[in-house]
Amino acid sequence: MSTVASPITRGVPPIRAGQGHSFFWRRLHSLSGIIPVGAFLLEHFISNAFATNGWKAYGDQVKFLTGLPFVLVLEIVGIYIPLLYHSLYGFYIWFRGQSNVRDYPWAGNFMYAAQRWTGAIAFFYMAWHTYTMRFSGIHLLTNSQAAFHKVQVEMHNPWSLAFYVIGITAASWHFAYGLYLFSAKWGITVSDKSRQRFGWVCVALAITLIGVGLATVSAFFRPGDAYNPPASTWESTSETAGNH
Ligand code: HEM
Repeated sequence: MSTVASPITRGVPPIRAGQGHSFFWRRLHSLSGIIPVGAFLLEHFISNAFATNGWKAYGDQVKFLTGLPFVLVLEIVGIYIPLLYHSLYGFYIWFRGQSNVRDYPWAGNFMYAAQRWTGAIAFFYMAWHTYTMRFSGIHLLTNSQAAFHKVQVEMHNPWSLAFYVIGITAASWHFAYGLYLFSAKWGITVSDKSRQRFGWVCVALAITLIGVGLATVSAFFRPGDAYNPPASTWESTSETAGNH
């Protein structure tokens, strides 16, 4: 419940200069959601979609990415720092503000709450996903061709699979609606009509991302072309990888 009367009764309020020290940090939070975090999310969806071409194509894509020069610097500067900033400042915005979704039951307020909850779900999902895929088990930077198998083992655990589906859906929604918010706040969609039209583009983007994500997940369940060695081989592969 807001105590300050606002001239804006509907739509997304722009970020204005002169709103105290937080102006710069709010702008940075907003921009970081698109570049680099949103751009990375799109790249990640596309790269993982190579799984639909089979385990070899997937391994080759992982090899390309992990073989980029200065890969660790790229990861830290291009992904970890901006993502951590966007996430922590996102929680700060959330807990400093008041979610008034029950007092004002209109679509904008539902979307306001959904943006915060999808961000939180994405945060815990990404922490778990990064730990399991990057920092534990078989080391993909030195064993890129084992990537399909590593994800496949993860996916065949029903709890992991459910978390993947929820995480993909939350991140897709958050980014697509974030693009809508960003365009309104930065003066790209100025009129009500342009916001409404762009809103449908963002709905289409959310559906597309969820569709691509689920198609990618399903590629790890395809019989036949999947590289699926027996459990004993997986154990020894893991142990070998641990020695690198
Ligand atoms: C998949 C990773 C993420 C992407 C691609 C992403 C992207 C975005 C984008 C594009 C926006 C719109 C920027 C704007 O308001 O102008 C946004 C807003 C927001 N994000 Fe994220 N985000 C991600 C993760 C997170 C996480 C983990 C949190 C933690 C809670 C979070 C919290 C927020 C909040 C609270 C807003 C709304 C800010 C406001 O209403 O002013 N985001 N995000």
